[in-house]
Amino acid sequence: MMNWQGLEGDKPHPAQIMDRMSDFAFSQRASRTHAQPISYLMQQALHNPNLISLAAGLVDYTTLPGADTAELLQQILSSPNTASAALQYGTTEGLIELRAELLSHFEQLNGWQSADINVSTDDLVITTGSQQMLFILGDVLIDPDDIVLSAWPSYFVFTDTLASQGAQVRGIDMDEQGIRPEALDAVLKQLDDAGDLPRVKMLYLVSYHQNPTGITLSAERRPQVLQIIQRYSKDHRILIVEDAAYRELTYNNEAPPSIKRYDTGNEYVALLQTFSKPFAPGVRCGYGLLPHDLVDPVVLQKGNHDFGSANLTQHLMLAALRTGIYQHQVSKLCSSYAHKRDVMLDALDDQLGEIGDGVHWTRPNGGLYIYLTLPPSVDTGRASALFRRAIEEGMIYVPGEFCYGNDPTRPIPNNQIRLSFGVAEPDQIRTGIERLARAIKAIMAQNVQVHSPG
Ligand SMILES: Cc1ncc(COP(=O)(O)O)c(C=O)c1O
Repeated sequence: MMNWQGLEGDKPHPAQIMDRMSDFAFSQRASRTHAQPISYLMQQALHNPNLISLAAGLVDYTTLPGADTAELLQQILSSPNTASAALQYGTTEGLIELRAELLSHFEQLNGWQSADINVSTDDLVITTGSQQMLFILGDVLIDPDDIVLSAWPSYFVFTDTLASQGAQVRGIDMDEQGIRPEALDAVLKQLDDAGDLPRVKMLYLVSYHQNPTGITLSAERRPQVLQIIQRYSKDHRILIVEDAAYRELTYNNEAPPSIKRYDTGNEYVALLQTFSKPFAPGVRCGYGLLPHDLVDPVVLQKGNHDFGSANLTQHLMLAALRTGIYQHQVSKLCSSYAHKRDVMLDALDDQLGEIGDGVHWTRPNGGLYIYLTLPPSVDTGRASALFRRAIEEGMIYVPGEFCYGNDPTRPIPNNQIRLSFGVAEPDQIRTGIERLARAIKAIMAQNVQVHSPG
């Protein structure tokens, strides 16, 4: 049995302690910015080597492309021409050859010609991970009290970034096909009726194998979502931020085209991808295809950050794409992750398949996550008996309550769990799920005792 010190709900986080000790006059944005609750979980995993973490959304250590990267860097740095180009400052919007390569990459993935959606290399911006593009899009569109529509649940790092920028979230309900168009329409109608439409600046969606649920927005719903956003873009254009971070980690070759496919005038959709998941997060290289009139404001803000993302990394990714090393790495990752996904699903079927009503989980065909829902009476939160028990058993998960933004109009569900099969090895995944199932069964049995008559 493990102890679980340091996880008490009321214990101050180190960042809060630091704030209290400082007499700097911090900006409003700094005071709206809080440490990610998930950093607690990461610390626990580091402090307890026997704890199996199915929490972290990190990529698999064993498949990172060390040897290929060394070879590509060797080639770049051993030629005086490429070495001096890669080691000099670049442009803020990114290396033009890489942007051209990425435009073709988007064409291949989505089966479109750039002309079909009115885009060129001028509309493609390279960033320091897709996180930088997410931050900058918030920075150029959001004022405090503005509203962002977001799937409910959603990728919590970005909803926290939005909170630091002062935005409020309005959650849009999902089912197994992604956000429900009727729910999107209903929320927008309500905001319109209340005169709040001018505050609505964007819709944020992780459109493939969503973090945290693993759900992909269905092909049928993609044009519908765009049409609804167009209809409510009365006062100003509402931006759809289509975060396709997991697009290339699709395990059955059946990914629908991006929502951008339907945005034929290149007006409404910012399509974001990253090399983090399909290659290596350490290269910190993301890229986005933007509506034309967003490019200058984004590039100006990016100039404030860094004058351009690491040039060496951009040369590396250009070489990886041109040599086919990138494409080879993606297929290697897909077979490795598909196997680990299957191991996790089989373990869930074995351990929790018989447990009965109210316990179910998603069956994603890509990405790194499976989302488990328990009966409403089973609290999965950080302060819950189940979370403590899971750590005592020797595993850790992300409580579903972390995966919801700050929507003041609705309660946050607390009976869900995000599980990741990204980092853990197959054996650890199996053991981790066994430990989780033991914890769940123990807590459910206690609940039955508490609620049984007499
Ligand atoms: C949905 C989603 N978007 C964006 C990111 C940020 O990735 P990066 O900045 O490494 O490109 C992540 C990272 O986990 C993610 O899960």
